[in-house]
Amino acid sequence: MAGAGLPRSVVPRHVGFIMDGNGRWAEERNLPRTEGHSQGAEALRQMIRDANDRGIAEVTCYALSTENFQRRPAQEIRFLMDLLAHHLRQEREEMERMQVRFRAIGRLEELPDQTRETIEQATIETEGNDGIVLRLAVNYGGRAEIADAFESQAPRQDATLESTDEGRERRVIEHLYEPGMPDLDLLIRTGGEIRISNFLLWHCSYAELHFIPILWPDFCADHLDVALEEYAQRVRRFGSIPTTAPGGDA
Ligand code: FPP
Repeated sequence: MAGAGLPRSVVPRHVGFIMDGNGRWAEERNLPRTEGHSQGAEALRQMIRDANDRGIAEVTCYALSTENFQRRPAQEIRFLMDLLAHHLRQEREEMERMQVRFRAIGRLEELPDQTRETIEQATIETEGNDGIVLRLAVNYGGRAEIADAFESQAPRQDATLESTDEGRERRVIEHLYEPGMPDLDLLIRTGGEIRISNFLLWHCSYAELHFIPILWPDFCADHLDVALEEYAQRVRRFGSIPTTAPGGDA
């Protein structure tokens, strides 16, 4: 049974997180926004353990959008980059114990050298692990990802290869940031906004959506369990006629 008391068969394989509300969490306490990000990083650390305990195979977390990267004050971006590098180094032993496979997606080539190198190192060092996949979206935008895929398409060699919808979609997927990445089953957004904000546009096509008004630093196992229980009741049709809810018995 999973941590939420759910059988593993109804636990989503891939869960996305839009971790919104760090700034407001800090402002409510008259603290600098950066303190909200530090607490947000702690909540992320705990969430990975909880997700792992519940049998979730992959989590993808929106750490920084391309829009955040371009529009937030340079000092806040620098803080986030340092925080990311710090956690990746500090958590190395724990990642090993949990057999975490770390990955990152986004326009990583635009990140500061030191951040990019730490990301590359963590990716290489954890590549042989066989536990939960922790993927961070950093300087990531869903439209940018699709535009980048379009940009890197080789000229068409054989039109017959793409003559079906499936073939054409496969050709796009081959050029996304991580071609083997599965679609999202469940997307959880904290912070109270009811929108996707340019996150994993391609992979969200049939994701179940779960929005909660709490601020990300306050996110804990109870919130994850509510989302998983709700997910288990959803009927996923993928455009067809309903057969069963993930937790149903028909
Ligand atoms: C959105 O909250 C959150 C971010 C832009 C950063 C997300 C980062 C973390 C959860 C910390 C983990 C960090 C790393 C680098 C792994 P916001 O600041 O937009 O909050 P607001 O909507 O209340 O202003």
